[in-house]
Amino acid sequence: IGHVDDVQELRKCRPAAVPERYIRDVGERPAEAAAAASSVLSSSENIPVIDMSRLVRGGEARLEMERLAAACEEWGFFQVVNHGVELELLRRMEELAMEFFMLPLEEKEKYPMAPGTIQGYGHAFVFSENQKLDWCNMLALGLEPHSIRNPKLWPSNPSRFRYPPPRGHDHLSKHLTIFFDRPCTSAPLLIVEINGGCPFACSETLELYSAEIRELCRRLLVVIAESLGLRPDGLEGMFGGSFVQAVRMNYYPPCPRPDLVLGLSPHSDGSALTVLQQDARSAGLQVRKGGAWVPVIPVPGALVINIGDTIEVLTNGKYKSVEHRAVTHHDRDRLSLVTFYAPGYDVELGPLPELVDDRRPCLYRRYNHGEYNRHYVTRRLQGKKTLDFAR
Ligand code: SIN
Ligand code: FE2
Repeated sequence: IGHVDDVQELRKCRPAAVPERYIRDVGERPAEAAAAASSVLSSSENIPVIDMSRLVRGGEARLEMERLAAACEEWGFFQVVNHGVELELLRRMEELAMEFFMLPLEEKEKYPMAPGTIQGYGHAFVFSENQKLDWCNMLALGLEPHSIRNPKLWPSNPSRFRYPPPRGHDHLSKHLTIFFDRPCTSAPLLIVEINGGCPFACSETLELYSAEIRELCRRLLVVIAESLGLRPDGLEGMFGGSFVQAVRMNYYPPCPRPDLVLGLSPHSDGSALTVLQQDARSAGLQVRKGGAWVPVIPVPGALVINIGDTIEVLTNGKYKSVEHRAVTHHDRDRLSLVTFYAPGYDVELGPLPELVDDRRPCLYRRYNHGEYNRHYVTRRLQGKKTLDFAR
């Protein structure tokens, strides 16, 4: 696939340059789409904001549940507030990611992402010389189960990404190691079972973040199931207790010609649910609705949730995994932290019988999620095309 310019370096060395490989065909450029969008949608239309504290409280709960159902059917996207994840933890995670992206290139290149994989630093989804590139750098880390962690591609810089066990604990079994991100005085210690992986693929901040976001995903899957009239475990129950969680940090440097490039190509997510933490300073995420691209305006402290392909399949297309993309800015960078929560690779999936009837014929075949995942990561991002796999 030849040499892929690192967009951060490009910006440093040739601040006015946009290499040909980044320049989109006319129809794909953000300005074209923005012009089309303004003619279709009134500016007041925005993705719904769901207050999670209302979903559990008496009279308000029904109304909020209806809003949630409408968001999943009509948008495939919503933002959540009162989501229960500590804002301080969100801030710390953002800081950790920024520290990594601000390192010199030689440091970051110690963790090179290989084509067809989504682990380490670089550009994912690049498979050919003539493919257009995204104005973005990524750091992707598999998190759960621990067997998917790749210690070679797990940063040890900034040091908060990887801490050696403190001295004096060498006697602990190699499967049980104690880590922490900060000096020993700062509790809590994290006890992590490593399952034969490298004992250093761990960071307190990321570990806490991952646990909190996972908890949020599970609560969301319960309310989403309830909004469909299913049992609380009607969706997650289909995973048979096996799940995969990964995080992808996207850094979009400023771009001299944001009207010609995309930060991230249009795609739908291969997950069940995605939790996206976006930089409050700059918008950039856009969601497809009725042929237009609608910007997701950051709500301070909120998290953006989107329905992934798994939920679209399980609900037989009732809840939509919607195409989205990211755009860049002339004078501002942008960071997004994206957590994917998905079934385990061994899970077999297909539409739930409750959502198939004469009026709603079965739209998808049964398939193995591991095979779907392989299909997803070995192709370029191309809108909703990847889900054709399940047709
Ligand atoms: C993504 O879809 O993975 C990220 C989009 C964004 O940066 O907002
Ligand atoms: Fe996405």
